[in-house]
Amino acid sequence: MEKSLPPKLAADEIEKMRIAGKLASEVLDYITPHVQEGISTFELNRLCHDYIVNIQDAIPAPLNYQPSSSYTPYPYSICTSVNEVICHGIPSKSQILKAGDIVNIDVTVIKNSYHGDTSRMFLIGDYNQISEKAKKLCRVTYESMWKGIEQVAPNAYLGDIGYAIQTYAQSFGYNVVEDYCGHGIGRIFHTEPQVLHVGKPKTGMQLYEGMAFTIEPMINVGTKAGKIMSDGWTVKTKDSSLSAQFEHTILVTNNGYEVLTQSAGTPLPPDFIVK
Ligand code: MF3
Ligand code: CO
Ligand code: CO
Repeated sequence: MEKSLPPKLAADEIEKMRIAGKLASEVLDYITPHVQEGISTFELNRLCHDYIVNIQDAIPAPLNYQPSSSYTPYPYSICTSVNEVICHGIPSKSQILKAGDIVNIDVTVIKNSYHGDTSRMFLIGDYNQISEKAKKLCRVTYESMWKGIEQVAPNAYLGDIGYAIQTYAQSFGYNVVEDYCGHGIGRIFHTEPQVLHVGKPKTGMQLYEGMAFTIEPMINVGTKAGKIMSDGWTVKTKDSSLSAQFEHTILVTNNGYEVLTQSAGTPLPPDFIVK
């Protein structure tokens, strides 16, 4: 089925997107103190699911989500992608977080029919238990996302976003995943356009005020190539190298952008963002 571009959001819809975005981010705030050595990714899912359903009175969008007939319905409410997992890591009772692990938790909630989609990296253990390699990858991935966000304004090109992310990540010798990308979002979880995290300046569609989409670069220490596991969802790097990801839902405003997935615990933008 042909997907259409996200509609230019009206003021009341933007307000609903702000609410959904804030709720998604608040799930990450809520789970943060639990993301510790010894907890299973299954338990993280259980806690997030209960918080979304019982406290936020919202819907966890991933649960039973089926992007196309080639996928089985996603069995949980969040994605937990550990170390060499690029994305769509399925929570598991047998997966216990240990010191030195890096884990992406990706939350999408639906509130009043609108979606908010955001993810952050969590580093497990004390500062000295986490490798320099892992710390640097997570930092650069976060900065890469912001290099993309910084490009967002009416009439900017999608290719400007991809180019900014790609050139920044590659300047550290990292590789950008191309098989998965950001997406238009609103009443629909995943819609056009596909927001690639690589690109060429002044190519691709031009952004317009009132459009909402995600920027969610997946950055690998090694090859950009991934492989899907036998569970049908979990994507690992082909060479088992480390992978990281951050995600925000972004609104194009009349003169730039607004980050919709914000809450009290949202990490501050990097120093290069002056706003
Ligand atoms: N939240 C993911 C994204 O950023 C999508 C997860 S789909 C799922 O687009 F089914 F795996 F949950
Ligand atoms: Co997304
Ligand atoms: Co997401």
